[in-house]
Amino acid sequence: MQTDVRPESMKRITTPELAQAFIKEQIEAIQKQVGNGKVLLALSGGVDSSVVAALLIRAIGKNLVCVHVNHGLLRKGEPEQVIKVFRDEMDANLIYVDAVDRFLDKLAGVSDPEAKRKIIGKEFIEVFADEANKLSGIEYLAQGTIYPDILESKDGVKAHHNVGGMPEEFDFELVEPVKLLYKDEVRVVGKELGLPDNMVYRQPFPGPGLGVRCVGAITRDRLEALREADAILRDEFDKAGLAGKVWQYFTIIPDFKSTGIKDGKRTFDWPVVLRAVNSVDATSATIEEIPYSLLHKITDRILSEVKGVNRVLYDLSPKPVATIEWE
Ligand code: XMP
Repeated sequence: MQTDVRPESMKRITTPELAQAFIKEQIEAIQKQVGNGKVLLALSGGVDSSVVAALLIRAIGKNLVCVHVNHGLLRKGEPEQVIKVFRDEMDANLIYVDAVDRFLDKLAGVSDPEAKRKIIGKEFIEVFADEANKLSGIEYLAQGTIYPDILESKDGVKAHHNVGGMPEEFDFELVEPVKLLYKDEVRVVGKELGLPDNMVYRQPFPGPGLGVRCVGAITRDRLEALREADAILRDEFDKAGLAGKVWQYFTIIPDFKSTGIKDGKRTFDWPVVLRAVNSVDATSATIEEIPYSLLHKITDRILSEVKGVNRVLYDLSPKPVATIEWE
């Protein structure tokens, strides 16, 4: 097992050559650590777990078992992309778990943000543990721990660096091939492993996903409207060349309605809030000054394509005083 301390002599991985050298070294280290053993990985589709999956697939092929849990709070197209990239293109041993009803049923009627987070975290571990218990012969657990996780856990910023971490009762030996890397290095390695750009350069996405953007008690219809509005925002940012430039951008749908008019009839529907912020480490954030023409375009599309909404607002609040997410 690797140490938890990044050696001073370790070069920052900034070039394809350095990434290739890292990949080669890690493949050998993984093969040495696990031999013919089986390794389990919770694959969210985020950068870190995707890079770990791609490394392990190269090192041990089907002895890696990836579990992708769809908790219903992912963005449009995400579960499909995980299946396409890992099962179809990389021929991974991938278990896809449709746990949408399980999560949404547990979340029904729960409006407190922290209670929602707790339910999502706990349910995730239970679903994952259920899958692990169905398998036999697993000895190792791979995780996408990265160096800032280790530093933050040492500082006491995070209780445990295995955020979204696995149950204590799991008696698996950990495989953490990117644990000495910073985020930018993980991306360079991911690119060299052939992962698609929209996975490698993905904006930060919270573990509880759309759950914290469907403010208050989540309902399926409002969640669906949120997912569609978010997809439109991302699509328009892509087309305008803002994807990869703006740090984080998303939509929120609060739990209230207001009046509107459509086809000569009164409506009573939700507003969609747009948020686009720039930040370095998420401790503070400034507002992206989106051109008005783009705001109009996004507004027009959301109002005509998304069911159940009749207003679009732009959140101009920096962090502090606001937080990036709405709950
Ligand atoms: P806030 O809203 O605190 O967000 O300004 C700062 C950054 O953290 C992300 N975030 C989360 N990430 N689980 C996560 O994994 C969470 O519960 C969570 N809440 C916020 C947020 O998207 C932003 O990048």
